[in-house]
Amino acid sequence: MSTAASSGGPSYNSAPAAALALNTPRLLLRAFETSDAHAVAQLCNDKLIYETTLAIPFPYAQADAIGWISTHASTAAQGAGFSWAITLAKTGELLGAIGLHISRLRQTAELGYWLGVPHWGQGFTTEAARAVIAHALTPRPDGVGLVRVHADHLVINPASGRVLEKVGMTFIGETPSAAVKHGQPVDTRLYAVTGDQWLKQQAARQTT
Ligand SMILES: CC(C)(COP(=O)(O)OP(=O)(O)OC[C@H]1O[C@@H](n2cnc3c(N)ncnc32)[C@H](O)[C@@H]1OP(=O)(O)O)[C@@H](O)C(=O)NCCC(=O)NCCS
Repeated sequence: MSTAASSGGPSYNSAPAAALALNTPRLLLRAFETSDAHAVAQLCNDKLIYETTLAIPFPYAQADAIGWISTHASTAAQGAGFSWAITLAKTGELLGAIGLHISRLRQTAELGYWLGVPHWGQGFTTEAARAVIAHALTPRPDGVGLVRVHADHLVINPASGRVLEKVGMTFIGETPSAAVKHGQPVDTRLYAVTGDQWLKQQAARQTT
């Protein structure tokens, strides 16, 4: 399945004001707007999402969504990261979120995502993650691009690990006590893909 993202546009170093829109076969990934806050709150106010994430509170109110969305423009303007709304291309329905937290010093990024529970198990996060990784790692005309995208997940969240495997990331290792959840230390599993690995995977896909 081809999920190549739209190419072109400004590079990450030129600090666009918002996430660039990315198209996949079923999805449109676009910048969040304040008007998404109600839908974000409805999807995030679910204990199943809270249980496997660290930064999403529960209960989750519309004010939380407004506050979160309000940070996106300055984060993007600093080149420190981008958040995309995962929406259905056909209907515009908001399904979830995906984002990159960028280290400009290292030219790497951490990938993060959540999807509303009613939409789980249909490959949407995998499809969105492929597009975002392609966008991050595809070499650009000015030679500026990220060299690596990584992500980690709590060990109690194998579905996230499966997403990372499906998008072609390599399992790096398990990190003991990498965070605290419910007041207890929790272990995480780290995955990564380099730009070179990604390009080789794309070339292999094109020849099969
Ligand atoms: C993790 C999450 C984003 C996955 O979204 P999704 O759209 O359902 O993911 P996909 O459908 O693309 O792929 C899920 C894969 O995990 C598999 N999976 C689901 N539950 C699983 C489990 N308990 N153990 C192992 N694999 C599991 C699915 O079968 C599927 O793999 P397959 O295609 O090989 O069958 C979603 O569950 C979520 O939002 N969880 C809450 C927030 C969160 O955990 N975010 C990530 C933080 S690291």
